[in-house]
Amino acid sequence: MPKLVICNWKMNGDIDLVSQFVEKIDDKNVVIALPNVFIAYVRCKFAKFKVSAQDCSIHDNTGPYTGEISAKMLSTLGVEYVIIGHSERRKNFFTDSAENVYNKIHNVVKNGMIAVLCVDDNYETLIDEKTKGLLKDNVKQVILAYEPMQSIGTGVVPKTSEISQTLLKLKEKYFVQKTIYGGSVNSSNVNNILAERDVDGVLVGGASLNLPELQSILQCNNMV
Ligand code: PGA
Repeated sequence: MPKLVICNWKMNGDIDLVSQFVEKIDDKNVVIALPNVFIAYVRCKFAKFKVSAQDCSIHDNTGPYTGEISAKMLSTLGVEYVIIGHSERRKNFFTDSAENVYNKIHNVVKNGMIAVLCVDDNYETLIDEKTKGLLKDNVKQVILAYEPMQSIGTGVVPKTSEISQTLLKLKEKYFVQKTIYGGSVNSSNVNNILAERDVDGVLVGGASLNLPELQSILQCNNMV
């Protein structure tokens, strides 16, 4: 059975690239996490295409939060998934704290969407007790994405058996139903990764910006 392919476009792409992808891709297992400015465009013009946001505000009520986008706004547009706690937001370029991550997940699930919570090998520290409780109460609305820091954008992928073991541990510890892997996934390694039992999908960054590459990934996924 095909698994879930979430594409994390980060701060890349333009309206032409977005149009090209949504016109050429017709696959119900793919979700593209677009920059916010493209989300409204896709939702209005290509309503069947599944989109994710890459983050949301810690605030859910309207208010004087310049530059922020709330989970409520995203859900009103028909967004189904929101990536939360990506390492680029926690450490590399921003400083999302555990408290912020908790609030964002809370807002995402409250608004009926699915939070794609990113963690690395440090998951026990990243997921504090309060967040653990929130996950436990919303197991169907949280996907845990295991993204080892050393694998993001580097071409280095752990052994598939190691990926599978970590995802199983995440399922056992946090009771979530879906666990996915992210970090240098491409059309050459996706087959082996998706073949692992506890891999319920992949989070694809760089490779998802190239249309033929993404099409090959989706082709592999449809043969799983
Ligand atoms: P990558 O990025 O596939 O380019 O390694 C994955 C991610 O950051 O989610």
